[in-house]
Amino acid sequence: MSRRHLFVCTNERSSGKPACGASGSAAIAAEVTRLLLLRGETNVLVTTCACLGPCFDGPTAVVYPDAVWYGALTIEDAPALVDHLIDGVPVAAKQLDPPGS
Ligand code: FES
Repeated sequence: MSRRHLFVCTNERSSGKPACGASGSAAIAAEVTRLLLLRGETNVLVTTCACLGPCFDGPTAVVYPDAVWYGALTIEDAPALVDHLIDGVPVAAKQLDPPGS
């Protein structure tokens, strides 16, 4: 089983351009972490990060090594994200095309 790593954009900015940090992404990352701990999962990493690129589709996240991108995430998506991180089944309804594809 490959170890998965979720990066969640929590970027903040004041320019007026959308930024994931203003849309609750830190709470999404925290909820995913909480649910992973509840399930006793220690083979997954969750990291908040700066801008991933597709700011207008935020809140965004990406799972590696799967290279699956997500957008328009809400805290209600946290359980499905945990399922992806553990079982490897992406959340189809929230997938984004990778930037530059
Ligand atoms: S601010 Fe989140 S993708 Fe740019």
